[in-house]
Amino acid sequence: MELYIDDANTKEIRRLSDIYPVDGVTTNPSILARTGRNPVEVLKEIRTLLGPDRLIFAQAIPTDAEGMIRDAHAICTLLGEQTIVKIPAIPEGFQAIRQLKKEGIRTCGTVVYSPMQAYLAARAGAEYVAPYVNRIDNLGYDGCGTTITIHNILKQHGCPCKVLAASFKNSQQVLTLCAAGIQAATCAPSVIDGFVNNAAVKEAVQDFVNDFRNAAGGSENMADLLSGSGES
Ligand code: E4P
Repeated sequence: MELYIDDANTKEIRRLSDIYPVDGVTTNPSILARTGRNPVEVLKEIRTLLGPDRLIFAQAIPTDAEGMIRDAHAICTLLGEQTIVKIPAIPEGFQAIRQLKKEGIRTCGTVVYSPMQAYLAARAGAEYVAPYVNRIDNLGYDGCGTTITIHNILKQHGCPCKVLAASFKNSQQVLTLCAAGIQAATCAPSVIDGFVNNAAVKEAVQDFVNDFRNAAGGSENMADLLSGSGES
């Protein structure tokens, strides 16, 4: 499963991409607004941090097709080739996605709350569709179930579109979708950290360190023990 950071805080992006095998960064207008900075400056900085090969997702703001297409051109000019333009999966968005596909501009149908929204965006030519798992849960429906239905519909109909599951609030939701074969997920930093934030794991790692120190007469690691520089 491709893994993206759903955040625009550049300090967090640097920290997480140093640790985890992340494929890129997704943003939306609200995420950019939370930085309190100029959105263009933030996106440029994220592109520099990611380098030219990893994907960055940035959203077109207008709600009419012509405006979305204009924003898509501007976003691609700003961020380069490995850019996916997020287009809301609404009627005007399907129109924009179709035109952008003809121009070779890569898109993600976003703000997906229902399977048919995703299907139409995929048929229009979106490379990704992004169901909002936790927001669907909060409406009283099944966010993971809806996402798996989308995945199955796209597979059954041979659509070459990937599901980018979004809007997570916990690592269990991500695990459920990873196990179901969903191709991509984008998660806030706290959710990514939650994948391995486990007291039992920390304790087991510390036990190994302590046991080694006892066995090696106080040496803290194998390298020191082998070079004879550890305590004895
Ligand atoms: C990502 O593409 C979405 O915009 C994002 O995951 C929405 O997350 P939220 O529901 O936490 O705002």
